Amino acid sequence: MSELSSSSASSASPSASVKAKHARLKPRVAAAVAVIAAAALAFCAYAVAFPASVPAPVGAVVENLTGANPHPVVLQRPPVAPLSAMAQLGKQLFFDPALSASGKQSCASCHSPAHAYGPPNGLDVQQGGLALAQQGYRPPPSLMYLYRQPNFSIGPDAGENDDAPTLAQQATAAAGVVKSQKTAGGASTSVEMVPQGGLFWDGRADTLQQQAYGPLLNPVEMANTSVEQVAAKLQHASYAKRFTELFGSRIFDDHKLLVSEAMFAISRYQVEDPSFHPYNSKYDRWLEGHARLTQAELRGLRLFNDPGKANCAGCHLSKPGKDGLPPMFTDYQYEALGVPRNRGLAQNRDPRFFDLGVCGPFRADMKDQTQYCGMFLTPTLRNAATRTVFFHNGIYHDLDHVMAFYNERNTDPGKFYPRDARGKIEKYDDIPLQYQKNVDVTDAPFDRKFGDRPAMSDDEIRDIVAFLKTLNDAPLSSN
Ligand code: HEC
Ligand code: HEC
Repeated sequence: MSELSSSSASSASPSASVKAKHARLKPRVAAAVAVIAAAALAFCAYAVAFPASVPAPVGAVVENLTGANPHPVVLQRPPVAPLSAMAQLGKQLFFDPALSASGKQSCASCHSPAHAYGPPNGLDVQQGGLALAQQGYRPPPSLMYLYRQPNFSIGPDAGENDDAPTLAQQATAAAGVVKSQKTAGGASTSVEMVPQGGLFWDGRADTLQQQAYGPLLNPVEMANTSVEQVAAKLQHASYAKRFTELFGSRIFDDHKLLVSEAMFAISRYQVEDPSFHPYNSKYDRWLEGHARLTQAELRGLRLFNDPGKANCAGCHLSKPGKDGLPPMFTDYQYEALGVPRNRGLAQNRDPRFFDLGVCGPFRADMKDQTQYCGMFLTPTLRNAATRTVFFHNGIYHDLDHVMAFYNERNTDPGKFYPRDARGKIEKYDDIPLQYQKNVDVTDAPFDRKFGDRPAMSDDEIRDIVAFLKTLNDAPLSSN
């Protein structure tokens, strides 16, 4: 019994001691598990909060799950300072309707501060002229971020040195070079020899100062007939004293100089006022690690950047520069996309009239460079989602139509272009036949062929549009 009891005791005792050990271990294991779990949780929380500080694969997981940016950057914004006296004068000019022949139209009428300095309404083009009854030629672009617009040039790094070739020489030299393909994220395959930079849809002005003469003297815009007429208006403006304060008492004697200084003042306003370049969109904040994209926006961004899919970033650059310059969503280059003719425009009632962008007729210096006929400046997509009119002829009024055009121009052209008398689709109907070879058919999503499956699905288009909306700046009042 004792034997038994001892044996049972001895047999019982190890099991008892194991049990006892287990009993002692359990809380320790539990504690250890709890500590590990807590640490893991803390790491996850840390990774979610600071995705940039964890190993890249973890950061990528966090990006997928939460839409946070695992690689935030510091964006270089222009310094914010009170407006100079020059810019303050420019602001008064910008909002002064008395400068137009009608007395009713200021710069802000077509470049509305409440609409990202773009058109305030959904008209294809704005009305202007003496009685505000004349139709413009093109929709007003946004005036935002133009301080970064480079001058017009052709090919690489022209225009920087003193003996830069003339535009005609550049164009002739470039004529033989095969157009290189543009893929999102990839280096281009050969030296780019294309027009780039400049202001207006065709790049015909270089500086904001030079540009401002355009609308003041344009018969379908502010419709002044001469620099003298503008000078007389300045002389009688409520702020005329400002001119003498800034430029001396004799400024009103020299009309050309007076108007030139006024134009310079307007350009200073656009350069200095932070409302023209706030860089405070959700995407900017995401780039800096201060905002999270929704799943749809994140998918949209990836499609936007995907060279095989939407390839938007091939031309509308989406990544910050090495120097931390925020991305401008344009490569400042020109392309012929072949957007359909807008038959609602007065100028297009003449079937022989074609707005061909770089090669004219609104700019005259490139009219012989027919390889550029049909090309227009790639606009920034910042604040594009606030616009109600798109492309150089205002043919579309919402992003769904723009996206459908990108997606199906080639695969189903009948959706966009009219048919001739024999039922044949008149593809690229806003470009004469002999220049249609300039139209981009090599860059995705334009590389698809008739009947192919389009590059994007409906869901993907929705995601890209969701992403485009992250490029809208938060409203900033202009002070
Ligand atoms: C009647 C409408 C209208 C008025 C008024 C007007 N603009 Fe414009 N603006 C336009 C249109 C249209 C364009 C594009 C023209 C083109 O591409 O040929 C444009 C283009 C511009 C551009 C070039 C933008 C770019 O992205 O290349 C600037 C800068 C500009 N306007 C500034 C001004 C200033 C400054 C004033 C006042 C002095 C003014 N505009 C008055 C309609 C207007
Ligand atoms: C090959 C270069 C290129 C690619 C790729 C490209 N774009 Fe564009 N984009 C342009 C050019 C050039 C224009 C102006 C064309 C015109 O008005 O004739 C433009 C105009 C636009 C506009 C109208 C903006 C305005 O102010 O009127 C939007 C929106 C736009 N693109 C979005 C996109 C999206 C989204 C993608 C990807 C699906 C894309 N683009 C791909 C060159 C490109």
